[in-house]
Amino acid sequence: MTAQLGEPDNLVLQARDVRFDWSTVPLHWIPGDPVATHLINVLHMLLPAGEEWFVRVFKEAVPLVRDDRLREDVLGFIGQEAMHAASHEAVLDHFVEQGLDVRPFVRQVDFFFESMLGDRGLTGDRRRAWLNERISLIAAIEHFTGVLGDWILNAEELDRAGADPMMLDLLRWHGAEEVEHRHVAHELFMHLDGRYSVRLRAMAESITMLTSLWQRGHRYLMAADPIVQGRIKGGVRHMRRTGLAGLTPSGRMVGASVGRYLRRGYSPLNEGSTEQAIAYLASSPAAQAALR
Ligand SMILES: [Fe+2]
Ligand SMILES: [Fe+2]
Repeated sequence: MTAQLGEPDNLVLQARDVRFDWSTVPLHWIPGDPVATHLINVLHMLLPAGEEWFVRVFKEAVPLVRDDRLREDVLGFIGQEAMHAASHEAVLDHFVEQGLDVRPFVRQVDFFFESMLGDRGLTGDRRRAWLNERISLIAAIEHFTGVLGDWILNAEELDRAGADPMMLDLLRWHGAEEVEHRHVAHELFMHLDGRYSVRLRAMAESITMLTSLWQRGHRYLMAADPIVQGRIKGGVRHMRRTGLAGLTPSGRMVGASVGRYLRRGYSPLNEGSTEQAIAYLASSPAAQAALR
């Protein structure tokens, strides 16, 4: 395990038992901007199933890890991702209470992660190959969660736009933990497989998968929103405006990060700052309440 200059190398990854009260959070928690609100809300629909899938795959990998430090990191990662999944799930209940029925879309996402990317009942070498394949996908997706985590920690335009502080704390607590554990999936992949060609393929597949889920998820939310009532058609093309305004990540920023991922010497530790993540967690209302 290598740590970069300025990055704590003795960090023990721990899950924080956070709680959020959604009762006063408005449906359009970026005031007056349902398009940007829902571009971020797609996350709430994907993460419960996606992160539970990470947990199942990583639990299967634990017995294969021959490095004590990496095993400890993988266990810490599992604890954090399980907590993330549960926290985003609670937001979905709040959406339904406000008349935004996300359940049909969420059922499709559940099916995707459980059936298409699930345990296929394989044995022997084929089981191992399918496990490695899924770990390579998770490592590529975790590149994005780390980059997005770094983005949300620095997204001051959301504060200036009056975004709801409870929602920002959820996203920044999660984002900070994504930055904190951003090296784990990549290191697990490098430990168990490590082939550059597999890493490239996993990134290509992840981009295709995430773009399609985001496009469909945003269209769904804009159509199902009881206030918008489909008057604005959803889609990732909106990210041009919202990205420029600093309310969502921009395609340019995410694209540049993919360029760095494709380098042979890529290290997730070059994305974002552990110190900044830890500083946020030390000030996060939810993370601090979890300590008490
Ligand atoms: Fe997460
Ligand atoms: Fe993560």
